[in-house]
Amino acid sequence: MSFVLRPFLHRCLAPEQKEPDAALEAVFGVAEPGRGHNCSGMKPSVILTALAVPVLAGLGGWQPGSAEQPGRFSLVQRTLDREVAVDFTAPAGGIWRVDTTSDLQGWEGWVSFTSAGVTRHLDSAAAYHPQRFYRAIEVASATPLTGDHFATQTGDAVIHPVNHASFVIGWDHRVLYVDPVGGAERYRDLPRADLILLTHEHGDHLHTGTIESVRGPDVAIVASQAAFNGLSPGLKTSAQVLTNGARATLLGLTVEAVPAYNLTTSNHPKGNGNGYVLTLGGKRLYISGDTEDTPELRALRDIDIAFVAMNVPYTMAVAKAASAVREFRPKVVYPYHYRNADGTFADLETFKWQVGTDLGIEVRLRKWY
Ligand SMILES: [Fe+2]
Repeated sequence: MSFVLRPFLHRCLAPEQKEPDAALEAVFGVAEPGRGHNCSGMKPSVILTALAVPVLAGLGGWQPGSAEQPGRFSLVQRTLDREVAVDFTAPAGGIWRVDTTSDLQGWEGWVSFTSAGVTRHLDSAAAYHPQRFYRAIEVASATPLTGDHFATQTGDAVIHPVNHASFVIGWDHRVLYVDPVGGAERYRDLPRADLILLTHEHGDHLHTGTIESVRGPDVAIVASQAAFNGLSPGLKTSAQVLTNGARATLLGLTVEAVPAYNLTTSNHPKGNGNGYVLTLGGKRLYISGDTEDTPELRALRDIDIAFVAMNVPYTMAVAKAASAVREFRPKVVYPYHYRNADGTFADLETFKWQVGTDLGIEVRLRKWY
């Protein structure tokens, strides 16, 4: 993957922050206030749009003074709950990555996306930082996997929600699929799978036709026993079973199967389904599968990124999910699998409010449906 750099840097300050100091401006060159950006909402006077000339020059791409800007931050604004809404405006179809930093000591990838003209993302981690800086980089790639970026010891992990329980993770030149269902069209523009994780055999988690359409030539499949039983003979040759508590190391990552079951219904009997804890590049990801707030879930520790199901009556209600999340304290939690049996969706704003901010847990809401 190669990058063409389009240097735009924006600083967003918390309402209580004062004007940026002179040293900062010196480092980042030209301050360009008054371009319509509203970083604080409360105090537009603290807005600074800085072109990062001294730092980013020499890496190619647009330079100050050239005629056309290929993209720009059209809004960077603190929300009432101290997150930051970031709008980026660029011609539709271009692929961009926005990086962020809170202290200018090092940039981290935050989110990549295909431009839709104006594309908005919510930086929910910003609630825990008094200031945030953003820069955008146009990415040239024939087969991009866009989504949320998390730094690992071996490059970014990229989280790409697809639908309901299905999502894709890109990491270290590998592509991991979780419970791919819904048919080939849904995955048409995504890279093929090196590893497929199957939590259990229900139709919203296992569909062999979809697996056939997304699998790469050397795919490995990790499945619960019941999910394995539902695979075609051909797919079974690429699959291995993990029972609750078992683990495997493959493709440079560790996969641990953890229990996923209901406490109050028989939808998902204990011992049948798997959740997974992945360790990749030093980061630990938890994928809940279909579960309630079991003791095993509540006992998890040291989880960096958690995907937690919440729908009724199949998994758990929002209050239980929030309570469990507060107990196992992942750094970041994605609600997923949140469509209820009646077609409504779990109230994610209530979930977010119930998780709260006092424990430093970032609730990351993304488009899953
Ligand atoms: Fe499900």
